[in-house]
Amino acid sequence: MVYDVVVIGAGAAGLMCAAQAGYAGRRVLIIDHANKAGKKILMSGGGRCNFTNLGTTPQHFYSENPYFCISALKRYRPEHFVELVDRHGVEYVEKAPGQLFCATSAKEIVRVLWTECEWAGVEVKLNTQITKVVRQGEGMRLSTSIGVIDAGVVVVASGGLSIPTMGATGFGYELARQFGLEVLPTRAGLVPFTLSDFWKDRSAKLSGVSLPVAVSCAGRRFVEPMLFTHRGLSGPSMLQISSVWQPGSPIEIDLLANENAADSLREARKITPKRQLSTWLGERFPKRFAQALLEWYPDSNQLKPLAQYSNDELDQWAGRLNQWQLKPAGTEGWRTAEVTMGGVNTDAISSKTFEVKDLPQLRFIGEVLDVTGELGGYNFQWAWASGVACGQAC
Ligand code: FDA
Repeated sequence: MVYDVVVIGAGAAGLMCAAQAGYAGRRVLIIDHANKAGKKILMSGGGRCNFTNLGTTPQHFYSENPYFCISALKRYRPEHFVELVDRHGVEYVEKAPGQLFCATSAKEIVRVLWTECEWAGVEVKLNTQITKVVRQGEGMRLSTSIGVIDAGVVVVASGGLSIPTMGATGFGYELARQFGLEVLPTRAGLVPFTLSDFWKDRSAKLSGVSLPVAVSCAGRRFVEPMLFTHRGLSGPSMLQISSVWQPGSPIEIDLLANENAADSLREARKITPKRQLSTWLGERFPKRFAQALLEWYPDSNQLKPLAQYSNDELDQWAGRLNQWQLKPAGTEGWRTAEVTMGGVNTDAISSKTFEVKDLPQLRFIGEVLDVTGELGGYNFQWAWASGVACGQAC
């Protein structure tokens, strides 16, 4: 079997790239070891796929080389993908500012990509294992479970390590190393935190409670909801900060992101001196959480009116509310992570064509590269943009 382009991985980036290469007149084959294309798309966004973010900028991505993503993102923008889904009659909603989700199901996005591949004449082989990839003359040769395949260009779109049960493997990293490329250390990103000891028990008791917070770590701050779980902390704010968190370091949670608790408590003591702290907390937090706070810090006599609180006591409470320092035990890891931080070092890759600089027959796109987006549709936008740039250049 001989193809101009063989794409490894029928995920977001691979399908997009294959369709573009097909439209450019190339004979294209996609190979995936999974039994279905786009499995991660199907499970994304709670089954509704947050397929882009209208506010995408390079600043929404982590990479050793923050400039690498600029060119592709500039050339293929969120409006282009919106135009594509419009053309296929997909209905969508803007759930949060800029975050577009399918109105019905993520299946719609797979349908769009699958149809585009069909129209572009792309062949797809699922349930296919790749055992070897080597250089062969001017091209590449793949040994697979369906035989030997020769390709002018091999595009590696095999994704990251998250959710191994969905077909994630380290294949792309191994291939990169085989061809002498550096793979930057990988770790789970956009992943819930686990807690240990009494914080784990406390969190488990509050499981299901969600509240808006601002969380900070390593110079980053995110203002989004936090969710208590049986194992620790999740919700958009925690997923976001997990991407910059290093094991062993604390995170700081501001439970009253828009309020200076010290000022408010002093003000309340002046205006409503007979009020109890529990009432003040109850006005700001879900009932279960307000109650839990009083249990966590037993120094607070629940019957004591605010008038009897000293400045020091109020400041202590303000610190607990505005600067809650917590050391996560770890994260839930690859089992639930949405993305992989790190990956193939972009230094060796062209940001225009995605080819390996001294081996243009080999290309890497999507999440396998050391480019990772924040939460909110940015990761798919990267998959589309890198896929289009590479596919058009194949
Ligand atoms: P992707 O993982 O999509 O595809 C890789 C493909 O390669 C897979 O089909 C896999 O089977 C195949 N493969 C792997 N190893 C192989 C091998 N050895 N041989 C052959 N094939 C192989 N992002 C976002 O922007 N909005 C969202 O709503 C979400 N939601 C979300 C939820 C959950 C639960 C997860 C896990 C992730 C998200 N994401 C997301 C992230 C997003 O899914 C991710 O960034 C993209 O799917 C990456 O696209 P890729 O094509 O690079 O990899």
